[in-house]
Amino acid sequence: MAQAKREQWGSKIGFILAAAGSAIGLGNIWKFPYITGQYGGAAFILIYLICTAIIGLPVLMAEVLIGRTTQKNPVGAFKKLSEGSKFWTAIGGMGVAAGFIILSYYAVVAGWALGYIYQAASGVFYEFSKPEVAGQYFNSLISDTVWNVGYFVLFMALTMGVVYSGVKNGIERGSKIMMPVLFLLLIILVIRGVTLEGASAGIKYFLHPDWSHVTGEAILAAMGQSFFTLSLGMGAMLTYGSYMSRKENLPSSAVSIVTLDTLIALLAGLAIFTGVFATGLSPKAGPGLIFHTLPVVFTKMPGGYAFSILFFVLLTIAALTSSISLLEVITAYFIDEKGWSRHRAVIVFGGLTTLFGLPSAFSYNLMGDFRIFGLNFFDSVDFLAANILLPVGGFFISVFVAYYWGYKKALPALRDGAENLFEKYPWVITGWKILLKYFAPVLIFLVFLNSIGILKLIADIL
Ligand code: PHE
Repeated sequence: MAQAKREQWGSKIGFILAAAGSAIGLGNIWKFPYITGQYGGAAFILIYLICTAIIGLPVLMAEVLIGRTTQKNPVGAFKKLSEGSKFWTAIGGMGVAAGFIILSYYAVVAGWALGYIYQAASGVFYEFSKPEVAGQYFNSLISDTVWNVGYFVLFMALTMGVVYSGVKNGIERGSKIMMPVLFLLLIILVIRGVTLEGASAGIKYFLHPDWSHVTGEAILAAMGQSFFTLSLGMGAMLTYGSYMSRKENLPSSAVSIVTLDTLIALLAGLAIFTGVFATGLSPKAGPGLIFHTLPVVFTKMPGGYAFSILFFVLLTIAALTSSISLLEVITAYFIDEKGWSRHRAVIVFGGLTTLFGLPSAFSYNLMGDFRIFGLNFFDSVDFLAANILLPVGGFFISVFVAYYWGYKKALPALRDGAENLFEKYPWVITGWKILLKYFAPVLIFLVFLNSIGILKLIADIL
């Protein structure tokens, strides 16, 4: 029996919005501002921008290219291009596994964001005079099993609902609605932020680099961040690329995705830092910045009640357009390789991911004492995925395209739909080749060594 025709995006903008939706997530609105705060503001941002241009963009192009060329999920794609090599097929498999793992804890944090829409609406933030009080309140919520698991399951159900409806009717349609809303909400929040009295200190923090904070560690953190925020290293962009037509200009789409992702991170940072500085709080709160510091910021700003609700709606939408890309990787694998129906794949693996996410959700109460190498379950899976699986995946993706599959085959595939670019701006393509071959693997490898602590060990010995 002939297989049902594989789905495709309905339009170029549909692909760009879906892929930008995958990229724009908790990484932009939660993580980017707090690590920027930890590493000294503008100087860190500058390094982050450079990393995004020299590693993020070339690896993104490589991933989308593998997907578009094979029109398959990560496993099928590597299998096809390597003509059945077990090693490369396993690299694809690692991506699918990473999708499963990341989704399981990503959706827990997303559930907190979803729950905070209600908390913001309830007006409880007005009881917080200091970030410490807001922090205690946050801790009490995430150690409340019903609250924590309830919103986690609800968020997973939303994710499954979108993916269940298909590539065009679910993911593309959802992204076309959610991304403009996200953009609008963010603009509103930025305008609120920069018009606050005392906002200029936040803007200055954003524009005046303080180089004293820029250490080797900050550079590696910037690289890791540009990688995570672009959803690279596990085949999400590969899978989205597999629904893209060969007539589309791939490099130009990749530039649009990177630009949107970067713009949103910068705007989110601007909205948050103007608020934090205008209310005299510290930008260095770390991972708790959004849940400990921001609620207090909102109570101190005019109109804070409404803006606090909008903010958590924004955060939830951003997380949702990312979580659907994670579930889509797993779904595409079971459809392509195992012949499952989309509905079956979504229900079975959405359900299994939810089950696997429970220990992450329980990490702050029932399983609070559980430790793997000193980390609780949540932090362990986050470490495994973000610090090991993604950089390893990204390393092999760049090595695969630059060395194994090779430019002889990759370039004609990249050229489809981009003939004009190849003729008018050949240096763009040369630049991509060089970055992917010599820069990306080396730099990603360094990030990997750093995140598993080897660089620190070497530094200590020296
Ligand atoms: N890019 C997403 C974010 O910034 C996270 C993500 C990573 C999504 C990997 C898919 C794959 O939040």
